[in-house]
Amino acid sequence: MKILVTGGLGFIGSHTVVELQNEGFEVVIIDDCSNASEKVLEGINAITGKMPLYEKIDLKDKEKVSNFFRRHNDVEGVIHFAASKAVGESVEKPLLYYENNIATLVYILKELSKKKKSSFIFSSSCTVYGQADEMPITEDAPVKPAESPYGNTKQMGEEIIRDTCLVTPNLNAIALRYFNPMGAHPSAEIGELPIGVPQNLVPFITQTGIGMRKELSVFGDDYPTEDGTCIRDYIYVVDLAKAHVQALKRVLEGNNPKNYEVFNLGTGKGSSVLEVIQSFERVSGEKLNYKIVNRRSGDIVSAYADTTKANEVLGWKAQFTLDEAMKSAWDWERKIRG
Ligand code: UD1
Repeated sequence: MKILVTGGLGFIGSHTVVELQNEGFEVVIIDDCSNASEKVLEGINAITGKMPLYEKIDLKDKEKVSNFFRRHNDVEGVIHFAASKAVGESVEKPLLYYENNIATLVYILKELSKKKKSSFIFSSSCTVYGQADEMPITEDAPVKPAESPYGNTKQMGEEIIRDTCLVTPNLNAIALRYFNPMGAHPSAEIGELPIGVPQNLVPFITQTGIGMRKELSVFGDDYPTEDGTCIRDYIYVVDLAKAHVQALKRVLEGNNPKNYEVFNLGTGKGSSVLEVIQSFERVSGEKLNYKIVNRRSGDIVSAYADTTKANEVLGWKAQFTLDEAMKSAWDWERKIRG
């Protein structure tokens, strides 16, 4: 069964391609390589023994998208990762984000709407909850006004899919709200490849550990949490990838009573920034150079998932601990810098 994975050369996309191929799906990747490298294909091949099909296409090119679906009319499901994801950049270039993340989504949904039957999985984010009033966060928690154009594209994306599903009974869709993805494949053949200075905590930690960065700035230790630093739900990217396969099977088999559903994907456990640093120090045996600085604007105090719905409905549960995920991130960092 052929599955299109857009953004399949990216961090979460590439790990998902591996899990799909391990489960016997035939994968075709579309990526424009704006934030990924074709070398990732070799990593996927090294792990699975199979080279996925790949086409370098910019999804903003509507004609090329149509042409792709004409040529690959046997695509039965789409997992749509391709999107821009830098929060700060989105504030400076909102139209770029609306074009990259919204226009492309519309083009793909238009193509899927033409098919007799189609399945669609969307990369959303826990950012849609903003600072939720209650922890852990369930899928019923209200969606709060977005803090950035990036966050807005995730909210709007969900609404566009929901509205499309309402009038397109043949389209089965699921939006997955990721908490904080981290780590790399245990083989160290694929992993996160941030361009420039990493904005996310874990790649910044491993780059500091390897000596690429002088020190990590911990953004604030005066939050109302036990150790004063922010709490997040760090989920191992391989666990996250496996959840996509479960979600895809659900929509392909038509097991979803409503043709549009949302799921949280996290571990259900919150970790503070200092706990993440301690995890790094445990698995690497190295002391991490860090200092406490002012809060980063836009950061929320705490976000961790209630994962009951994904556990029960998707039959999926995160398996790996923070230390195991951190070890994979550290092995990957040492491999790519070694
Ligand atoms: C960020 C995005 C979110 C996106 C998610 C994807 C923001 C405000 N939010 O979430 O929209 O969906 O990435 O992974 O950018 N930290 C430090 N020092 C650092 C980097 C981070 O102390 O150098 C802290 C942050 O204050 C935060 C935690 O580490 O408490 C995690 O930060 P980060 O990895 O950037 O993720 P989020 O901010 O949760």
